[in-house]
Amino acid sequence: MEKLTVLTLFGGNSSEHDVSTVSAASVISNIPRDKYDIIMLGITKDGRWLRYDGDIDLLPEDKWLEDESKLRPAYLVPDSSVGGIVEIVDGKAVTTKVDVVFPVLHGKNGEDGTVQGLLQLADLPFVGCDMLSSADCMDKAVTNALADRAGIDQAKWLSFTEHEYRNNPQKLLDEAAEKLGYPIFVKPANAGSSVGISKATDINSLADGIEVAFANDSKVVLEETVTGREVECAVLGNDEPIVATPGEIAPCNDFYDFDAKYVAGTSGLFIPARISDEQLKAVKAQAIKAYKALGCAGLSRVDFFVNDERILLNEINTIPGFTSISMYPKLFEHSGVSYPELLDRILRLAIERKESRR
Ligand SMILES: Nc1ncnc2c1ncn2[C@@H]1O[C@H](COP(=O)(O)OP(=O)(O)O)[C@@H](O)[C@H]1O
Ligand SMILES: [Mg+2]
Repeated sequence: MEKLTVLTLFGGNSSEHDVSTVSAASVISNIPRDKYDIIMLGITKDGRWLRYDGDIDLLPEDKWLEDESKLRPAYLVPDSSVGGIVEIVDGKAVTTKVDVVFPVLHGKNGEDGTVQGLLQLADLPFVGCDMLSSADCMDKAVTNALADRAGIDQAKWLSFTEHEYRNNPQKLLDEAAEKLGYPIFVKPANAGSSVGISKATDINSLADGIEVAFANDSKVVLEETVTGREVECAVLGNDEPIVATPGEIAPCNDFYDFDAKYVAGTSGLFIPARISDEQLKAVKAQAIKAYKALGCAGLSRVDFFVNDERILLNEINTIPGFTSISMYPKLFEHSGVSYPELLDRILRLAIERKESRR
C-alpha cells in the first residue's frame, strides 16, 4: 500500500502549548512509519507557523525553536486547490500535498474549532471533531447546555459574560449561592488544563475566583461541587463509536488542578476505574450518548464524576492529552489496542469521514 503523508500540527497559541509539544513528540514517534510519512508543522506561542525538520525529542519545552536551520515558514492555506501546505523557500512559495492532518493541539486556537474550520476550508481530511463539535466541546457553557438538552445528567450550573457580571455583580453572586450552594467551582468557559479554575467557599472567594476566570475568558461557568470519582472514557469512531474500559484519576490535590495534572505528578491513575461493573457499563453508555449529542467524530475523551447515586458528565476533550502515559492511549492499550495501532485507526477514521461526506 502506498504511504500516506500526515501533517502533524503542534504547539499553538494556547495556555496548553507546552502540553501539546509533549503530546506531539509521543504521537509523532509512534505513528507507524511503514504506513505514513510525517511532516511536522509547529505553531509558536505567539502564533507563527514553522515547518520543522529536526529531532522529535526536541519538541518539548520548545527546544525545536533553537536551531533556525531546521525551521521554515510554512502555512496551511484555505485554498482547497492546494491540498496541503505552502512553504517559503528562498523567497518562493512551494506547495507540498498532504493526505491527512493530525492537529495535536490542546485548548484555544487548536482544539476549539479554529484550526478545524481552516482545515474544512482547505478540504483536507483531519483527525478528530469538526469545527462545530470542537467549538461546542471547548466552551463549557455550550457543552453543559447541549448535555442538558440531551438529558445527560451533570452538576447544576450557570453561566454569564463579563459584561453581564459588571452590570450587577451582587445579583449574580446571590443567584449562584442560591442555585448552586457553596463550595462552587468557577471556570472560564473556554480554557483547559484547569487554567483559571478555582473552588469558592464563600462570597469573597467566589468574587475573587470570577476575576481569575475573567482573566482567561469573557464568559464564566459556575457549577455546584459534586462528589465522586473522576472517571474518564476514551471514545473512538465516527458514526458507530466504540468506548474502551473507563479509567479513573485520583487527584493528589484538592481537585485536579494544573499542578496535580502536570507538576506534582503523583496523581493516581486506575484502569479500570474503581467502580462496579454495572457502573462501568452505564458510564460507557453515557459516554457514547454524550459523544453523539455533541456531534463528536474521530476521537474524544469524555469525563465524568461517578458516585453511588449518579453518573455526571463533566466535560469532553476533543483532543485529549496524548503522551504515552496519558489516559486516552492508556485506556485503549488496556482494551488491547497498542498506541501505534490506535494512531493508525485514528488517521484512517479521519480519511473515512472525509470520504463519506463527499
Ligand atoms: N462541578 C465540579 N465538582 C467537583 N469537582 C470539579 C467540578 N468541576 C471541575 N472539578 C474539578 O476540577 C478539575 C478541572 O475541571 P474541568 O472542568 O475538567 O476543566 P479542564 O477543562 O480545565 O480540565 C476536574 O478534573 C475536577 O477535579
Ligand atoms: Mg478536565
